[in-house]
Amino acid sequence: MAQILLLNGPNLNLLGQRETHLYGKRTLADIENELSGLAKEAGHSFGSYQSDAEHELLQRIHGCGDDGTDLILFNPAAFTHTSVALRDALLATGTPFFEVHMSNPAAREPFRRQSFFSDIALGVIAGFGPHSYCLALQAAIQHLAAAAEKQPE
Ligand code: DQA
Repeated sequence: MAQILLLNGPNLNLLGQRETHLYGKRTLADIENELSGLAKEAGHSFGSYQSDAEHELLQRIHGCGDDGTDLILFNPAAFTHTSVALRDALLATGTPFFEVHMSNPAAREPFRRQSFFSDIALGVIAGFGPHSYCLALQAAIQHLAAAAEKQPE
């Protein structure tokens, strides 16, 4: 059993009402409930955290160093394109993560083409609306199973 953390950055508390043509009509609570059920079905424990504040996201990532978090599903939202500090926190704790976006940032404004996370992520899932989160969880479950197979008994 692994511990999976869903981590969401600024404005993602507004899902369901925010730019629904890009991000869909599901709320963050809907997404958290679905992922929690899917993670538990696969035998993993699941937690979720959202903040608009960079320092709070930093503290949550720092906590992953010793709270047993095995893998993060991370949508850094606007911090994707700005935050060296969040990148450094992930490098400092070494917690593996998938980068998740509902929209496809590569197909939007030029400033969204830069990500401070993609090159250090296990993988990037983008462009599938709220379903991106489920796809990221599926990828995480497969990754954890492959890693467990490699472990000596
Ligand atoms: C986003 C894409 C970002 O560019 C944007 O700032 C967000 C959401 C996405 O999920 O598509 O807030 O991360």
